[in-house]
Amino acid sequence: MLTGAAGGFGQAAARRFAAEGARLVLSDMAEVPLMALASALSEAGAEVLAEPLDVTDEAQVAAHVTGGLSRFHRLDVAVNNAGIAPPLVPLTATEAETFDRVMAINARSVFLGMKHQLPPMLAAGRGAILNVASAAGLVGAGQMAAYAASKHAVVGLTRAAADEVARRGVRVNAICPSFAATPLYDGIADALSGQRAEPRGNTDARFTRRIPMGRIASPDEVAEAMLWLTDPANSFMTGQAVAVDGGLSA
Ligand code: NAI
Repeated sequence: MLTGAAGGFGQAAARRFAAEGARLVLSDMAEVPLMALASALSEAGAEVLAEPLDVTDEAQVAAHVTGGLSRFHRLDVAVNNAGIAPPLVPLTATEAETFDRVMAINARSVFLGMKHQLPPMLAAGRGAILNVASAAGLVGAGQMAAYAASKHAVVGLTRAAADEVARRGVRVNAICPSFAATPLYDGIADALSGQRAEPRGNTDARFTRRIPMGRIASPDEVAEAMLWLTDPANSFMTGQAVAVDGGLSA
């Protein structure tokens, strides 16, 4: 089960999990790219259930879990990946409504997802949940107060849930990528390049300068880590917020 499946990380993860033979339950608010992805995966031989939904709506989240169970009769892995990042802006200029919206889409969604994904996993005595946080869930990120708050909340939710279910066969971890080449990153970089009236290349250089590897990630690199973190063979790891950040946090 994967939310935000139509986005940069989502598409890469859906393809990577499909390549491992996973049966996929995909969702996104963006219906057109979601259905295009589902068709492409189905044509390539994957079994896919795709449903448009808003991850902040509990009834839709609950119905999606039930629908996935009716179709495939088990839930082994859930990746709570949907999220947004508003353009960079100082905390003092952040609208309260923006803060609430970012918290709802990035953090409340993870709470709602786990609330409905955990019962079938606990009933089966197995499963792995991976919540997509961010490097901004581990350290402060200037001009991104709402986003950093929401991603720290994702890490807190992950740790609490992991502790709660650790003895019942279900692992819960978070992944904390730094910037990666997706539409979300493009939105931030384009807005900043506009604000500063500088070429986009200069803006990209601001982001890559801080990363020891000297570049941002590809979505495929993040999808690879998602696969490993949710692999049943990775059986003693839970409650962790794992940086996949080219060395940024080092
Ligand atoms: P993206 O913008 O390419 O994809 C996000 C997807 O989430 C979109 O398809 C969008 O339609 C969907 N979405 C947004 N609001 C939704 C809602 N209310 N209900 C259902 N779907 C909704 O972004 P990307 O980069 O793939 O991000 C995925 C996750 O990774 C997000 O949680 C993001 O915060 C996180 N992340 C991204 C990084 C990056 O540099 N790209 C770095 C660190 C974390």
